[in-house]
Amino acid sequence: MKLTPWWKEAVIYQIYPRSFNDSNGDGEGDLPGITAHLEYVQTLGVDAIWLSPFYTSPNKDGGYDVADPRDVDPRFGDLDDAKNLIKRAHELNLRVLADIVPNHFSDQHKWFQAALKAGRGSPERDRFHFYDANPDGTPPNNWISLFGGPSWTQVEDGQFYLHLFDSSQPDLNWDNADVNSDFEETLRFWLDLGVDGFRIDVAHGLVKEDIGKNHPDPTGLSNALRLDVEMDSDVRNALLESVPYFDRQGVHEIYRRWRKIFDSYGDREVMAVAEAWVHPPINATRYVRADELHQVFNFDLLTAPFNSVFLFDVITRSIELNATVNALPTWALSNHDSPRVASRIGDLESQALALFVFALPGSAYIFAGQELGLPDGELQNSDRQDPSFIRSKGAIKGRDGARVPLPWSGESPPFGFTTGKPWLPLNQSWSALTIEKGSTNPDSVLNLYRKALSLRAQFLAGSGEIQWLESPLHGTKSSELLVFKRGAISVFMNLSHNDLVFDLSGQVLLSSTNGSLNLNDNSVIPARSTVWILN
Ligand code: GLC
Ligand code: CA
Repeated sequence: MKLTPWWKEAVIYQIYPRSFNDSNGDGEGDLPGITAHLEYVQTLGVDAIWLSPFYTSPNKDGGYDVADPRDVDPRFGDLDDAKNLIKRAHELNLRVLADIVPNHFSDQHKWFQAALKAGRGSPERDRFHFYDANPDGTPPNNWISLFGGPSWTQVEDGQFYLHLFDSSQPDLNWDNADVNSDFEETLRFWLDLGVDGFRIDVAHGLVKEDIGKNHPDPTGLSNALRLDVEMDSDVRNALLESVPYFDRQGVHEIYRRWRKIFDSYGDREVMAVAEAWVHPPINATRYVRADELHQVFNFDLLTAPFNSVFLFDVITRSIELNATVNALPTWALSNHDSPRVASRIGDLESQALALFVFALPGSAYIFAGQELGLPDGELQNSDRQDPSFIRSKGAIKGRDGARVPLPWSGESPPFGFTTGKPWLPLNQSWSALTIEKGSTNPDSVLNLYRKALSLRAQFLAGSGEIQWLESPLHGTKSSELLVFKRGAISVFMNLSHNDLVFDLSGQVLLSSTNGSLNLNDNSVIPARSTVWILN
């Protein structure tokens, strides 16, 4: 079924350009490498690609440190390569989302270089957050960077600048008119070049309050903001409600202005999705009010255990909260900032969960490699490049494991990703997980994804709300089975370690354990699996 607008219930494939495919043997993926393999992406049955940043950048934070947002970094190619990519994608009916990074620039951006030279009180410094030191010489406040260490760095004349991330990523001052107009120019630049929308990086961070004040517990706050730190949920929630640099009311005015730009492209159906990690969860819905953005990421599933109570709660909540603003949820199991889902919850479990969320209303995001069942890379500390690893002096391992390049073909690393030396080593053990093997093996995760996305398009997208069903089992076992019906499909997820046996009426369309399910025997839902039944 063709849905309008296209993004309502889309499947969006996230490409991390540096790790997708290397066309020139320098060991790093690039735009021509993506263009050359878009046909593969099309075979997955996705609607769009989202490209992580490929702009001019010293690459201190994987390109999320942008030195020129309207040009392509030479490591990835040039503007003509970007145009070719967009053109080829459109020929293949794939939309293209670019990643826009409005919270900060790189310290190599010409504005920051000018600010350093211009000195205190200058209009150049006003584009960032430059402040004098306290009388005792300490930074203006005690905030901690999300990558560890202080969030202030001192420049030669004694002033400090704010950076919520790496010291090479000075935060922009969104009260400054130049900042606003420059980003509007960047949005139009890429839209005029043909992109279909944007993923907005740190969308909740642009506006800051109380810069002159210390936070009562900056260390607790920075831990609460990290997905990999466990914390009592009441303590975490209380801390998250006190964060002075995220989710301030002012961000919404910015997105209202951006929405007018998007809508001015009319029939193009431009869309934007916000990376907004906010608390309490109801706040996320503000980003998708009718006059703001189109989608907002739901991060719950990036950390969710494979547990029926937890999954039932986050799924129900996300659907209900989005409904209050007439929006549909988004579902992502992996991205470039979190451990890959197969490593985090296991192979069977990650496939079961993927089939479960593909059947839900809303848009599904797939991080390149997830469709192969790829686990995290096994890295030595000497391989790691993430600024969070470097700034925390190794205490935080960082996100490189999820960013290891994709295995394309052959029996040994680098598996056709490059003819040179890959920027991060690929696991020796990935020979069965290559795109080449996945394409020929009917029981591969790759073919499971292809089947699931094609059945989703045929039976599920656009078919309205879900209805949770009572488990057909009784007693303790019932809590280990989640069941819902949507349109003509019933979806069963067995979270237990045992096969569950009962009478299913209907035809088995798909099972996440693939080959091991006897499609004639429709009375068994294998342990740790999801099954789609056509009623
Ligand atoms: C976002 C990106 C992440 C980056 C950070 C700073 O969270 O997803 O990769 O490090 O912003 O730009
Ligand atoms: Ca390259």
